[in-house]
Amino acid sequence: MSNLNPNTFFENLEERKRRIEAAGSEIRDDFYLNRMAKVFHPDRQYMKIAKVTEIDKDTKIFRFVPDPDRGTTRCAPFLAGQYLNVFLNIEGMKVNRAYSISSSPQNAKDGFYELTIKYVQDGLVSRYVLDNWKEGDEVELSGPAGNFYYQGLRDAKTVICLAGGSGITPFRSMAKAIADGNEDFNLVLLYGSRTEDQILYKDEFDALGQNDKIKIVHVLSDEQKEGFEYGFITADLIKKYAPADAPYSVFVCGPQAMYRFVKGEVAKLGLAKKYVRFELSGEIHDASSMEDYPGTDQATVKITVSIRDVTKTVTGSANDTILQTLEKNGITVPTSCRSGECGFCHSVVTSGKYYVPKAVDGRRVADEKFNAIHPCATFPLSDIEIIVPADK
Ligand code: FES
Repeated sequence: MSNLNPNTFFENLEERKRRIEAAGSEIRDDFYLNRMAKVFHPDRQYMKIAKVTEIDKDTKIFRFVPDPDRGTTRCAPFLAGQYLNVFLNIEGMKVNRAYSISSSPQNAKDGFYELTIKYVQDGLVSRYVLDNWKEGDEVELSGPAGNFYYQGLRDAKTVICLAGGSGITPFRSMAKAIADGNEDFNLVLLYGSRTEDQILYKDEFDALGQNDKIKIVHVLSDEQKEGFEYGFITADLIKKYAPADAPYSVFVCGPQAMYRFVKGEVAKLGLAKKYVRFELSGEIHDASSMEDYPGTDQATVKITVSIRDVTKTVTGSANDTILQTLEKNGITVPTSCRSGECGFCHSVVTSGKYYVPKAVDGRRVADEKFNAIHPCATFPLSDIEIIVPADK
């Protein structure tokens, strides 16, 4: 019983201090918890490309297996819906991008991940990857990360998944996890594509749709065909497939334009906040395309950035995020999601004007008050000064 007495903690304070001071600064591998932390949350996973499958001229599936020669012996486990960061050095420029894992958690146990990478307009990384990566290449990935996964305590038993384009990838993983018996919820997928021949994984989803817990609905915007919904994913369409007499969650993943449109439609449903989850597929770009963009008369801006005790001034386009400009100028910022969600790049603006698109502004009131921003989801409106955290 004495272990439950909170006073014991304070009585041992001096002894604890003594032990902490006596301990070394290295992380010890002989502690079970430290070993497990490395297995579940590795900083880096060193992989090889085992297979490349071309789906169309702009989309490929890359399969990665661990590379024991460089110290990675297994795939870190993940929850369906999470992403991996890909680290690259493109002509001397260090960049990374987050891609949702399109394979299943079971596949990771069996020894591989898959990422489905689609070319995005003006996408430096997607173009590089599609043009250069081939079987046998060595690749550096992060550990799995992200919060876009099913949580039984928070989410309803039925999840209406709204996908556009490459935003299908986390839902492929979730559907496979349900089919494997590793997730237990009802998944209704409303997948928006322009035409039938642009649907990714059509045959695979047709097969997954045979499972009692999975329903697949294709929504075509540019083609009217029997067996397909026509138009866009609207609130009315969501209601048509939602359970009439039970709560449901809505998960959304898609490119910027779809994300903005669907956000407005989902708001019309009046669902409790906990039942609505968003994940942007790809990073935020092109400020002038945002509905609430206030505009600026400066096409180019100076960004003065302080990292630790180094300060540099660089110039970039007002249409690029602060992060994009810093990276184009060789300045590395800690990042993970690259869409304003994870908080890794959390920084402070000390002078200048900036714009955070409403659609991706998840900052707390205190952050807004003290000009804390995420450079990955913020555009400069004037010359600006910013303090960013140092990368590892
Ligand atoms: S990288 Fe996640 S918030 Fe910026």
